[in-house]
Amino acid sequence: MTQDELKQAVAQAAADYVAREVPAGSIIGVGTGSTANCFIDALAAHKDRYAGAVASSEATRKRLEGHGIPVLDLNDVTHIPVYVDGADEIDGGLNMIKGGGGALTREKIVAAVAERFVCIADGSKRVEVMGRFPLPVEVIPMARAQVARELEKLGGKPVLRAGFVTDNGNVILDVHGLRITDPKGLEARINQMVGVVTNGLFAMRPANLLLLGTADGVKSFI
Ligand code: A5P
Repeated sequence: MTQDELKQAVAQAAADYVAREVPAGSIIGVGTGSTANCFIDALAAHKDRYAGAVASSEATRKRLEGHGIPVLDLNDVTHIPVYVDGADEIDGGLNMIKGGGGALTREKIVAAVAERFVCIADGSKRVEVMGRFPLPVEVIPMARAQVARELEKLGGKPVLRAGFVTDNGNVILDVHGLRITDPKGLEARINQMVGVVTNGLFAMRPANLLLLGTADGVKSFI
């Protein structure tokens, strides 16, 4: 199976999971990226079953609306039974690195509201120790150099994502060379740096369920 076929398989498995587990009339939280896009396409087949969706990025909002799925403002929503999104890396504790697409802050906000986080990923994303994928950190533009110096003190090599501005008007530093053995501790430490909006570690709020696409089919991990 190609990587695209694996993404489609996990996206379909997630759409089936949501149709089975989530009451009709619910609002679904929807992530960002190529795997999340496959999920949106699969969700569209059952769209009348849901009241709508909350989007984690402008790109996702456009894709949902393109399918005729109503997109709600998170401030008008109190309950999201499930949030479905991809990951750049995921470890055995279902901690993740996210933000390869730059939507990490909104993803973290929607995930914080959601009761359950379902991660959908092809097998290449599953790792023993995270850090090979550079950790994205969203930063207020005027704090870029200061935050980069602080990140260097952690042993990382921050690289400004060239020509990229987030949906929130900020920049991203991609931190290379980390070996993340304490995901929760590192997530908290980076979030405390002045000028950091958020970082792409999802360890304080890990996934509740991983649907992993493999050559032997979609495997579930909790
Ligand atoms: C978007 O900001 C990211 O968090 C994505 O969810 C993550 O990068 C996975 O994307 P793909 O599904 O495109 O690999």
